[in-house]
Amino acid sequence: MSTTPSRPGTRVGVVVTDSYPAEDLDHDTAPLVAALRARGVEAHATVWHDASVDWSTYDLLVLRSPWDYPERLPEFLAWLDHAGSVTQVLNPPALVRWNLDKRYLTQLAALGVDVVPTTYRTSLDDVRADLAGTAPGAHVVLKPAVSAGARDTGLFHADDARALALAARILDGGGVVMVQPEVPELSQGREKALYVIDGRLTHAIAKGALLAPGGGLIGGVYAEHPEQVDVTDAEAAFAQRVVAAVTEATGLGVPLYARIDTVDSAAHGLVLLEAELFEPALNLHVVPEAAGVVAAAVHARLD
Ligand SMILES: Nc1ncnc2c1ncn2[C@@H]1O[C@H](COP(=O)(O)OP(=O)(O)O)[C@@H](O)[C@H]1O
Ligand SMILES: [Mg+2]
Repeated sequence: MSTTPSRPGTRVGVVVTDSYPAEDLDHDTAPLVAALRARGVEAHATVWHDASVDWSTYDLLVLRSPWDYPERLPEFLAWLDHAGSVTQVLNPPALVRWNLDKRYLTQLAALGVDVVPTTYRTSLDDVRADLAGTAPGAHVVLKPAVSAGARDTGLFHADDARALALAARILDGGGVVMVQPEVPELSQGREKALYVIDGRLTHAIAKGALLAPGGGLIGGVYAEHPEQVDVTDAEAAFAQRVVAAVTEATGLGVPLYARIDTVDSAAHGLVLLEAELFEPALNLHVVPEAAGVVAAAVHARLD
C-alpha cells in the first residue's frame, strides 16, 4: 500500500449529509479525516447536496454518510452522476447504483452466496400469499428493496394486519417489498458486520437488535449498539467470497470498502443479510486502529 506523500494540494472530500444535526450518528468521518490528514492528505467533510461546492476541485470523493439519500433518491443519483463525471468517486457510482436495490442479493445468490431467504413482491396479493404460506405463529420481516437504517422495516406475526399495511405503504410509494422469515438470531442482536477494506478483512461489529415485534424500532428510534466481535475462519472466508462475488457480478473491481452483514443462523446457516458498499457505518470510534487502514486504502487510490 502506498506510503508516499500525496502531491501538494491533493484534496479528498468525505461525503456526508447535514440533514440530521440533532442526532448525527456518523462516528467515522472525524477519525477518517484525521487519519487522512496524518498521511499528508488535505481532507474534509463535504455535504453532498451543498449546491455551493465545486466537485471538480476534489481529487477523490469518499462516500461516507449521505444517509438522507433514500428520501431524495433522484436528486442523489443526479448528484452522483455529476460528481462521478468530474472526479473520482468511491465506491464508484456504478457500484453504488448496483448496491442501492437489494435485489442484487439474487445475483449474489446465483453466484453461490447463501443469503437470507427472500421473496421480492410488487403486488399486495403476492405479499398476502407469502404471509398466508407462513407457518402458524411464525414471524416475518418486511422491508423495501431500497432502504437504509431500517426505514420501513417491520417484524410481525404473519397474521398481523400491520404487516400488510406496511407492504401497502411500500408498494404505494413505488417500492418493491422484500418478505423474509424472521431470523431469530438477528432479533437477538447477533448480526455481524464484517468489514473488508480494499479486499482485506479489518474488523467485525455486532450492532445489536433493532426491530420491535409488531412494527417499528426497539425504543422507537434507530439505535445501534456496536461492539467489536471476533471473526471465525468461516466468517472471514464468507466475507471474502461475498466481495469476490460482488466483483464478479459487477465487473467493477475490488471495492474501497465493503461491510458484509451476516448472521449465523440455526435455520439457514451462515447467510448474507446485505453487502453494504456505499454508506456503511464503519464504527471507527469502536475500532480506532481501522481508521488508519481506511485512510491508507484511500491514499492508495490517489494517483
Ligand atoms: N429477516 C430478518 N429477521 C430478523 N431481523 C431482521 C431481518 N431482516 C432485517 N432485520 C433487522 O432489521 C435491520 C435492518 O434490515 P436490513 O436488511 O439490514 O436493512 P437496512 O440496514 O438496509 O435498513 C437489520 O439490521 C436487522 O436487525
Ligand atoms: Mg442493514
